[in-house]
Order: sequence, then structure tokens, then C-alpha cells
Amino acid sequence: MTDELLRETAHKIGCCAGELSAEGRTVDLLLTLFVPEDEVAFCLFAAGSPASVAQVCRQAEIPFHRIAEAIESAATGRCVENGDAMDPLDQPHLKGENHMKAVYKILAIVVAAQVVLQSMAMVYAVAGQGKWVLEGGVLDAAVIESRAFVFPEVLGYAVHGMVGTMIIPLTALILLISSFFTKVPGAVKWAALVLLLVAAQVTLGFLGHDIPALGALHGFNALLLFSAAIYAARLARNGVASQTADPDARLAPRT
Ligand code: HEM
Repeated sequence: MTDELLRETAHKIGCCAGELSAEGRTVDLLLTLFVPEDEVAFCLFAAGSPASVAQVCRQAEIPFHRIAEAIESAATGRCVENGDAMDPLDQPHLKGENHMKAVYKILAIVVAAQVVLQSMAMVYAVAGQGKWVLEGGVLDAAVIESRAFVFPEVLGYAVHGMVGTMIIPLTALILLISSFFTKVPGAVKWAALVLLLVAAQVTLGFLGHDIPALGALHGFNALLLFSAAIYAARLARNGVASQTADPDARLAPRT
């Protein structure tokens, strides 16, 4: 195999990989290597599945012996694009996807942290209220409706109401929007579930004033919401890992 033929072959594979990527399947030719002594050529791909790599080779009409997964523990590979050497993991589209996954993960963690804040704020308020009553304060409808800061821990109620009606719903909504850009399987589903549980939580919070038993569901739903948010964060974390170190994403067919 001549140098020119190798370059032509790489170009052909690169074009077919580009076509497949345009269809939404992640497959990139990172490196082509020819070992003249053995008369063997190696191609290093970043791809979503072995099937994508096989399809590229078939489309490029390049006979291949086998497709083997390669494990990479650190970003040591280099590929050349427009004459500039660049790290394969620095490719703009892979970087962009990873950024969106990081955003998704952070938002999911923020939702979980806000649920923790909500429970702390509520216990802070209730504890302050109990102390105030034991010290002689009188809690009646007039005090509740006045929303006056008769004891400092009333702040807990104010924080709970504000975070619960505005900040958590907004964070969950942004989480859902970001989920459409993450390309992590299940990300949209879990973000939608988080938003649904937030809607249920707010509804139960308000209904609890008239039907106290619903307060119990409000507490239980908070745990469901916390768990769903943590699961979503873990989902994105695994997704980020798969883009950077998952062996499935690094496939090397031998031609
Ligand atoms: C373990 C966590 C939580 C506990 C223990 C808790 C507890 C409570 C309690 C006791 C109330 C009634 C307050 C009152 O009568 O003034 C309440 C109301 C409320 N909660 Fe929660 N909650 C929790 C989490 C959440 C979360 C995560 C959200 C939002 C997604 C939320 C949103 C609300 C809303 C909107 C109200 C009604 C506020 C109002 O009437 O001004 N809560 N919560």
C-alpha cells in the first residue's frame, strides 16, 4: 500500500463517516495507521457502536478483518484536521455534548439540593415556631395571615414558599430543556419526571392547607423528587464518562 493510497482510503472512510454522522450516528475516524512490514492497516474510530463502524467500512468499500473495542485510560490520541493536530476528545461536537451533559448533571444536583434546603427551611421554621409558642407567643389566624416576622425563624416559611413556588419549578424546567441537548438515553424522560414531581409537590403543598393529610404526601413526594433528581444526575454522569473513557466509544477495525 502506498502513502497516497492510504491517504485516499482514509479520505474515503472519513467521507462515509461524515455521512453517517450527518444522519445522527456518532462515528468519527480519528486515526489511520499502516504497518508496511505486515501489510496491515488500522483505523481508530470514535463511535457509538461497532455496527456504525462496520457500516462506514462497507459504505467505503474497505474490506476489514475485524472490529475490536479499544480501551483508552487517558486522552493520548492525536488526530489531524486541517493541518492542526488536535486531541480527539477536543472535537467541538463531542465537547459540546459533554458540556450539555455537565449542565444537565449540575441542574439535577441543584434540584436535589433544593429539596434538602426545603426540608431544612421547614424544620427550622417549625422548630422556631414551637420555641416561640413555648416562650409565651400566641399563634392564631391573625398572626398567620399577617405573615409578620413574630419570631426570626419565620424566614424558613418564607424561603420554603419562595423556593417551592418559583426557584425549584424554574430549575426543573431548565433541566427539561437542557435534557433535549444531552443525547443521553433516558435524560428527557427523567427530567420530565422531575418536573412532574415538582408540579405534584407544589400542588400538594397548597392543598395541604385545606386537607392536612395531603401534607403527608407532600413529605413523601419530596423523597421521590430527591431520588429522581439524583438518578438523573447519575445518568448524565455516566453519559459524560461514556464520551470520555467508555470503551464502547473507541472502536478499532483492522483492515
Ligand atoms: C422534605 C421536604 C419538604 C417538607 C418537609 C415540606 C413541608 C411543607 C409544609 C409543612 C408545608 C405547609 C406550610 C404551611 O402550612 O405554611 C409546605 C408547603 C409548601 N411546600 Fe413544602 N416541604 C418539602 C419540600 C418541598 C419542595 C421540594 C417543594 C417544591 C418543589 C415544596 C413546595 C411547597 C409549597 C409551594 C408549599 C405551599 C407554600 C405556601 O402555602 O405558601 N415543598 N411544605
